[in-house]
Formats: sequence, structure tokens, C-alpha cells
Amino acid sequence: MKVRKLAYSLGAEVTDLDLREPQSDAIINEIREAWLEHLVLCFPRQDLSPDELVAFTARFGKLDDDRAGSLWNLPDHPKVNIIANKPVEIGAKTIVPVIADKWHTDLSFALRPSSATWLNAKQLPPIGGDTMFASMYAAYDALSPSMQGFIGGLEGMHDVSMSPDWGRYTPEIQARRRGTHPPVVHPVVRTHPESGRKGIFAGGFLRKLIGFTEQESRPIIDLLNTHATDYPFVYRHKWSKDDLLMWDNRCTMHNAVQDYDRTQLRLLHRATLLAEKSGRYYEAENASSAPASMS
Ligand SMILES: [Fe+2]
Repeated sequence: MKVRKLAYSLGAEVTDLDLREPQSDAIINEIREAWLEHLVLCFPRQDLSPDELVAFTARFGKLDDDRAGSLWNLPDHPKVNIIANKPVEIGAKTIVPVIADKWHTDLSFALRPSSATWLNAKQLPPIGGDTMFASMYAAYDALSPSMQGFIGGLEGMHDVSMSPDWGRYTPEIQARRRGTHPPVVHPVVRTHPESGRKGIFAGGFLRKLIGFTEQESRPIIDLLNTHATDYPFVYRHKWSKDDLLMWDNRCTMHNAVQDYDRTQLRLLHRATLLAEKSGRYYEAENASSAPASMS
């Protein structure tokens, strides 16, 4: 296989592979090393069936099999989700649209966030519909030691209801999503378990910082998200049909830019690898910060 860098901080193209075929352990290891080094990999011209996508991606670990509560999975392939900008009918099932036009890390609102996500482009608008990725290593490294020290002591509450799609969900879907994913707490700076490097863990699901009010938290969160997605840390992927992308959610954020004709269908197949359990469920704060009783 050949690996070619696509951008300064992250992103590489991997060619000379046919992922419909079974791959040797040596090739899987090479892909894994390229993924850890470049954070986002694009394998062009990989028109994978759902079975082929699962066969390839399961070589890297345990796949998510429907924790989202059946909203997006193919009825006969629970590990393959449909990511489409419009409702898609598959048999008796209507797949709910996903519009992720906000910087985020997949499943940051879960106790087991995602380590890897794969997307295989099946149908694209004639122009636009790019996905942007940002390196949280590069963003962390560029901070001053003072800021690194400050955020190194912070924890944040991630909440599924911060999803850019939230207002488009029915009350039933909202209740289901809240039930599946109560708010969780993760550190704002995390050490990648494989590379040992530190990265910012913020993004669009981060609602508040622990020990701070939401009002106090907002400018700090906005500062982090704005800094973390500055141009030098970003790779913008222009999709071609049959591209397979693989990225590391433990050290990146991404944003599906809505710069295309929304009447056109944009449809991708997704598989998700689960990271180790981390963080904890959020418990209501403020017992100690409530105003003292006058009695
Ligand atoms: Fe995403």
C-alpha cells in the first residue's frame, strides 16, 4: 500500500489496496500505524457492500452495534449506519437524517466514545458536502503553557441534546436518545492511549465545565472550539464516490459542511469502533455553590 500526506496537521491517502478482499495481519497493522500517524485516512475507490465494510472494519476491534437505538442502522446490518441528509426508506424502516454541521467528536456524549469512524461515500451531491477534520494534538500543542495548565485541570459535561440535529428530532426520539445517553463527564485534555500524546477534547456536545456555571463555561468552551479548529490544524476532505474515510476520534474533531444543494441526496455508510470506557455519568452539581441560607 502507498501512503501520501494530504495536509499539514493530519490526513493521508492510502492507495494500492482493494478492501473488498481479505487483508493480511501485516496490512492491517500497516493501516493501523498510518491511522495513528495521520489521524484521517482516505482509501479512494472502495465500493464496499455492508458485509465487506463490516469484515474490514471489525479487524480493528469491537464495532458499535446499535447503541444509538436502531435509528440509523441498516435493518439487516446493525453495525452499519446510514448517514444521509434526507429520510431514506429501507424496507419498512425510515432512516432518520443526520446533519452534523457542528465541530464534534463522535459519541463524545457516551461513556465509551468512538475510537475510529469509517464513512464510505455511496451517493454525493454534484458539488460540495465536504467534511472538515481538525487535529486536537496540533491544537493542544499550539496553546501556551499557561493555557495548557489551566485546561489540563478541567472536566466537561457532554450532552447528546447539544446535537445540531436535536431540534429536528421528534419528542419520542429525543426521549430515546436521552435515555440511551445520559450526560457524561470527560477531561478537557485527554492523553491518547496509544500515542501518549495530549489532545483537546471539547466540541459541540460539551455543554458545561464541571465546577463552573453554564454562563461561565460558554466563553471558555467557545474559545477552545474556535482555537482547536483554526486553519493550520484542519484538513478539508472533498468527497469522491466510493471514498472510504477512517479517522481517529480520540485526537480529532470533524464537521460535515452543509455547502451543497440540500435537495440532492448525500448518503454514506458508517461503521464505528468503540473506545475503552472512560469518563463517568454526570451528577448534578452546585450543592456547595448554592447561596447560603439566611435562616
Ligand atoms: Fe460525526
